[in-house]
Amino acid sequence: MNINVPRGTEDLLPKDTVKWQAIENAYHRLAKIYNYKEIRTPIFERTELFQRGVGDTTDIVQKEMYTFTDRGDRSLTLRPEGTASVARAFVQHKMHGLPEQPTKLYYIGPMFRYERPQQGRTRQFTQFGIEAIGSADPAVDAEVISFAMESYQTLGLKSLKLVLNSLGDHESREAHRQALVDHFKPVESELCGDCQQRLEKNPLRLLDCKVDKDHPAMQNAPSILDYLNEYSANYFEQVKKHLDHMGIDFVVDETLVRGLDYYTHTAFEIMSEAEGFGSITTLSGGGRYDGLIQDLGGPEITGIGFALSIERLLMALEAEKVDLEEDETIDCYVITMGEEAKYAGSKIVDQLRKTGISTDQDYLDKKMKAQFKAADRNKARLALIIGENELNEGIANLKNLETGDQKSISLEEIVEKVKAEL
Ligand code: HAM
Repeated sequence: MNINVPRGTEDLLPKDTVKWQAIENAYHRLAKIYNYKEIRTPIFERTELFQRGVGDTTDIVQKEMYTFTDRGDRSLTLRPEGTASVARAFVQHKMHGLPEQPTKLYYIGPMFRYERPQQGRTRQFTQFGIEAIGSADPAVDAEVISFAMESYQTLGLKSLKLVLNSLGDHESREAHRQALVDHFKPVESELCGDCQQRLEKNPLRLLDCKVDKDHPAMQNAPSILDYLNEYSANYFEQVKKHLDHMGIDFVVDETLVRGLDYYTHTAFEIMSEAEGFGSITTLSGGGRYDGLIQDLGGPEITGIGFALSIERLLMALEAEKVDLEEDETIDCYVITMGEEAKYAGSKIVDQLRKTGISTDQDYLDKKMKAQFKAADRNKARLALIIGENELNEGIANLKNLETGDQKSISLEEIVEKVKAEL
């Protein structure tokens, strides 16, 4: 019987989790710097949330959701993304009533999509995302984009490309929608089955089709930028001006539509341009969502956010050969020889740990030399050596494994001496 991990998922072993922890710590720090507070929502939600939030016509809802019926006959879905859940929590807890607006939230956690696994695409992946809900100020769009870029740059990535577009407000989108229908209707029969349906339900999704992407009608499809009304065009200009002021480079790509239905106005993606990065180059994406909070039963309030996956971030770090600062060291390894020393050693290990000094010892009855090797493998900074003779004299040898210096210390003042050496 094969009981390995399910396809599209992976185990993270200690050699991996040190990297993950370094990244997660960096993101908690960055969220503090930008003043975003953490929110944790359930891993599964009512299926309807994603149907309404992400959109019925998206690939995510139509093809990629892990949906199941629980024993109470409810349809539940493992979350495919974080924004719908955060928006639901915002509405459920009436967060628009909090004194400080916009509400600025961040999350880190696993998301699930039934996609064909390949490099950079797994069925369980981990998103870090932020959402700023409650302000229609273009400066917030720029803040979110700045956060996204900074989150890569602070870790040392350089080969990045920021791609920007505007999907306009409701009115602009309606005008564009009509133009798309007029454009594609004459060639409807040449399009794939999905696209024929999209033409009825949500023609914008046509521009995202992987099957028809080379159809000639795609090349000269109407651009949303030609259909922005004055408010939307002005909004987009202001976002770009903020980015210019902040010194954030971008390119406008009018074909960027994103794969989720809730977007209005600003939409963006960050790509890796690193050599050797896989064929899926999008590192993260986000945008503004005018109608989402209202669609979920909340007030008419807009928000903007972005999300990245840590898996793709790690690929980019590898492609750019960036080493993370991983803390794999321990402070002290206690080496003992003889039975009595072993008891004394266990007590000392316990004492050191209780004062916050990371410490370990041998549990396999190893010889002295092998215990020193274990200290090295554990990347210990200090070794504390206790033999029967030392024990009788009430002392131990403290060796600094980085410099090789060794000195005798009294068992009475072990904690102070170890601390002083660190
Ligand atoms: P998304 O573009 O669907 O947007 O996903 C955001 C990021 O999640 C992608 O750029 C990619 O890094 C990562 N990702 C998506 N699918 C996979 C996968 N199968 N394997 C590995 N990584 C993946 C959203 O999810 C929106 N909620 C973003 C957002 C937040 N918009 C506004 N606020």
